Amino acid sequence: MDVRTMMEGDAEAVANLSEQLGYPMSTPVIRERIKVVNAHPEHSALVAEANGKILGWIHVYVAQLIESPNSYVEIGGLVVDAKARGSGVGKALVRAGEHWAVERRIDDIRVRSNTKRTEAHAFYQHLGYKVQKTQVRLVKRLALLNPE
Ligand SMILES: CC(C)(COP(=O)(O)OP(=O)(O)OC[C@H]1O[C@@H](n2cnc3c(N)ncnc32)[C@H](O)[C@@H]1OP(=O)(O)O)[C@@H](O)C(=O)NCCC(=O)NCCS
Repeated sequence: MDVRTMMEGDAEAVANLSEQLGYPMSTPVIRERIKVVNAHPEHSALVAEANGKILGWIHVYVAQLIESPNSYVEIGGLVVDAKARGSGVGKALVRAGEHWAVERRIDDIRVRSNTKRTEAHAFYQHLGYKVQKTQVRLVKRLALLNPE
């Protein structure tokens, strides 16, 4: 198995896996997202591939907050194909994300995960992650200004 940078040609496989994560997205939309992320030096999207098949992906990025003295890396998304779970793919992707952080001299990596994803929490804890706090996410849809 190889872990490498996600490419636009991976869009269809990445879209299928995103659906498994609970975020159905069309292939063209994913292709655009891959382009945006790859153009951004503080983001990295990686795939795990074996025999030409994409088994999973991870997206990590540097987060900077005014109230945090140091930047940290956040895992924005991680999913492994349901048929490939339990064979070390998720761990390889997380380790690659951690390596990307360390290369940037960032020693703080975080992930926010829905409280329903108890399996994923056990996975992360197995890899050394500790529950720091639980949060509530609030959202509001804004009316956009009309262009003059
Ligand atoms: C969570 C997920 C990424 C794990 O990927 P995976 O490829 O199945 O996990 P791995 O096979 O790499 O497991 C790595 C280690 O974690 C352990 N592990 C995996 N799931 C576990 C669980 N539910 N409880 C305890 N340990 C677990 C494995 O036993 C393995 O241990 P080892 O290294 O000592 O052998 C995968 O199940 C997934 O895609 N789930 C659905 C999407 C999701 O929840 N994503 C996370 C959103 S935050």
